Parts: sequence; structure tokens; C-alpha cells
Amino acid sequence: MEKLIIRGGKPLNGDVFISGMKNSALPVIFGTIAAGDVCTIGNIPDVSDIALAFDILRSMGAKVRFINTDTVIIDTTNVMRKSPPLEYVSKMRASTYILGAMLGRFKEAQVGYPGGCDFGTRPINQHLKGFELLGARVAYGGDGNINVTASEGLKGNFIYFDIASVGSTINVMLAAIFAEGTTVIENAAREPHIVDTASFLNACGADISGAGTSMIRIRGVKKLHGCNYTLAPDMIEAGTYMAAAAATNGNITVRRIIPKHMEAVTVKLREIGLSIDVGDDYITVNSNGAYRGTEIQTNPYPGFPTDMHPQFTAMLCLSNGISKITERVWDGRFKYVDELLKMGADITIDEGSVIINGIKHFKGAAVKASDLRAGASLVIAGLAANGETTVTGIEWIDRGYEALVDKLRMLGADIQRVEY
Ligand code: EPU
Repeated sequence: MEKLIIRGGKPLNGDVFISGMKNSALPVIFGTIAAGDVCTIGNIPDVSDIALAFDILRSMGAKVRFINTDTVIIDTTNVMRKSPPLEYVSKMRASTYILGAMLGRFKEAQVGYPGGCDFGTRPINQHLKGFELLGARVAYGGDGNINVTASEGLKGNFIYFDIASVGSTINVMLAAIFAEGTTVIENAAREPHIVDTASFLNACGADISGAGTSMIRIRGVKKLHGCNYTLAPDMIEAGTYMAAAAATNGNITVRRIIPKHMEAVTVKLREIGLSIDVGDDYITVNSNGAYRGTEIQTNPYPGFPTDMHPQFTAMLCLSNGISKITERVWDGRFKYVDELLKMGADITIDEGSVIINGIKHFKGAAVKASDLRAGASLVIAGLAANGETTVTGIEWIDRGYEALVDKLRMLGADIQRVEY
């Protein structure tokens, strides 16, 4: 196994190039099943969740070939109707997208119950409700699979989601591409990954409008075809480096990004006293030393992203004053707090919020990542800490941050990845 060793206390300075967005790469990769043809996808992030997604596709009969480090050709012409191995799909939440993509193309799908980061309960009732409203039957097999069938085909319908859910919106969009007539999704999630997925599907011949708003309209088509598509940059990777700039009292420019996606993060950083310069495809975060505490609520996009909550907690630990982050998306997203306490943080958890009392310094400690963004938060704390921090559980971090150690070293961090 491997761990990170960080000797903290160095301001991070310089430029960092942001990779493609993991959370749109996953639905686009599984969306190629619906295309049933050859797709060339660019800006693929080199992270373990994506490698696993390719293993799953290959196990289903797709051909996957990289033509350079971040561009892949995926041929799903001969994908089989069989369910992918349970041991793969149970490791990843996004494997549910196979249900929507296969249901649309083959009118039947069988996929094991998904895994992913553990934030407490992660139901998929809204996904399944959407499939049922399109005319599919949903059944749980004794073999751990969810079976969804629409022997008489899918029919467009009006679907109102009780919750603006990223996964449900994408999954139902994938299935509805081939439904007869028009499907309207109301209270759709509006995240940039939804827009990216819809743009990819439209490039393949789908007819989807309204992605990025709370009402998406999908007019059914008979068939898709292959396309060339380049993924949007990863807003959470960018936000993580922005938080690291503040926490280490540094000056970082995140490049090759879409600044509009970063607004909730940018506004908060400005509000607490950081200097922010926004360009066409970059943002510079320049720390002026001290920054203030603040209050944040996580919410679906365009609200403050839940996937930036743990990293902001680490950063706000070093602010002047008191901060409060209220988690409105994942009720179980607090496991990182115990680890930050080991580093000297002063945090209490109170009914779905963290209350953070600013401290002068973190002190290095041995800590363990419990999920992807928890890991990112511990790395930020380690980079800012006095002394040495070791972070284990880094397989979580590998799921979503491309070349983290190399990128941080380029910014001046003292960080190593070692076997233990
Ligand atoms: N929900 C339901 N029923 C459903 C689906 C969701 O009640 O059928 C609830 C969830 O329990 C949660 C809320 O709705 O409280 C939002 O869940 P959503 O479906 O939006 O999340 P997801 O699709 O499972 C994606 C990202 C997560 C990110 C969330 C929220 C992927 C692969 N995962 O998850 O990303 O936190 O949206 O933005 O896109 C990460 O990258 O670290 C990560 C966890």
C-alpha cells in the first residue's frame, strides 16, 4: 500500500493545469453504450475511477484504446446485453449509469447495486422512479442485480424529481433518448456535468434541450451515432487547489478551467478576504495573509458544492474567527472531522453543520482518508501544517485527482508518495 508524506508550512505558488471533469467523464463513458458506435473522447482525467469505468466497458465487450494520454477511442458497437461483473460495479456509484444507457439501447438492463464514497444512505429511488415513469419494470434479483426491463419499449413522460439529483437526472436522460415521444424532466439537477453529458449525447444525435436548467426536454430518436467530444474541466479539482492556495498563504493560478463553474467558490474566497483575479479560462487566488471566517451551506449547483465542503473546512480552520458549514446534500459527510482534530483543529459537529473555530496552525499527524474529498481536505491541512503529516487511505484520493503529487510539487509542496 502507499501513503503520502507531507512536510507542510510552505506557501504554494505557481500555475496548475486542471484535468477533465471526473463526474462528467463517467456518464459520458457509460453514455457511449447508448451511442453503439465509435466515439472519441478528449480531456479524460487519469484517475482510478475512470480506469475502473473502462474495465467495466471492456468486460461488456466494448473496445477501448487510448490514442494519447487523455484521448480515448471507445467502440461500443458490439457491447453485450449481459450485466458487468458485480465486483467492479459495486466499487462505484456511477455504474448506475449503465442502467439508463442499456435500458435505452436494449430495452433491458441488469446491473449490480452501486458502491462509491460512503456518506450514509445513498438511495437510487429517484433513478428507478424515472425509469418506471418511462414504462420500465424494476425488480431486484437475488443475485445482487437490479433488473430493469421495458419489453414494449420506453414512452416519453413527465418526470418530476423530488430532489434535484445529479445521478437521477443523467440516468433518466440516458434512457429517455430512445423513448417514443417527448420526456420532460422537472426539478432536474443543473450541474455542469449534466450539461457536459447532454452535449455529448446531442453530438451523438440525441435531441436534448434545457440541460443546465431545472427543466430538461428530451425528444426520442431511433438511433445514435459516434462523435468526437472533449470533456469540460474539473471544477472540484480546481476548487481544491484554490482552497490550498488560501490555506498555505500562497498564490496559485488554476488554468484551463471554466470560471463560471467556479462562482460559488470564488465568491466565498473573495468574501473572506482573498484576492481573486478571474480571466477567460483561469482564476488566480492570491492570499494576503489572514482571512476571515464565514458561513456556507452546500446545495445543488449553482449552490456551493458539497464536494468542496471538506476542503473548505480545512482552509477555514486557519481563518480568523468562527465559521459554519451546513451540509445539505450528504448527511454523512463528516468523517474527515476526526482526522482534522488530530491535527489540532477546533471543530464541532452540530446537527448537520461543522462549527469551526480558527486556529493559528495545524500540526502534522498521521491521518487517514475516508473518502475522496475527505482525502483532499487532509492533504490541504498537511500542506499548511507545521511538521510532517502522513495520509493513508490514498486510494480514495486516486479516484478523483489526477497526478496530485506531481501537480503539488510543481507548486512547491514537499510531498512524497511512498510504499508502506
Ligand atoms: N438522492 C435520493 N434518491 C436518489 C438519488 C439521490 O434521495 O435516487 C439524494 C442523495 O441521497 C443525496 C442527494 O439526493 O442526498 C443528491 O444526490 P445526487 O444523486 O445528486 O448524487 P450522486 O449522483 O450520487 C454525484 C457525484 C458526487 C456529488 C453529488 C452531489 C458522481 C459520480 N458523483 O453523486 O460526487 O457529491 O453528485 O453533487 O457524479 C465526488 O466526486 O466526490 C462525489 C461524491
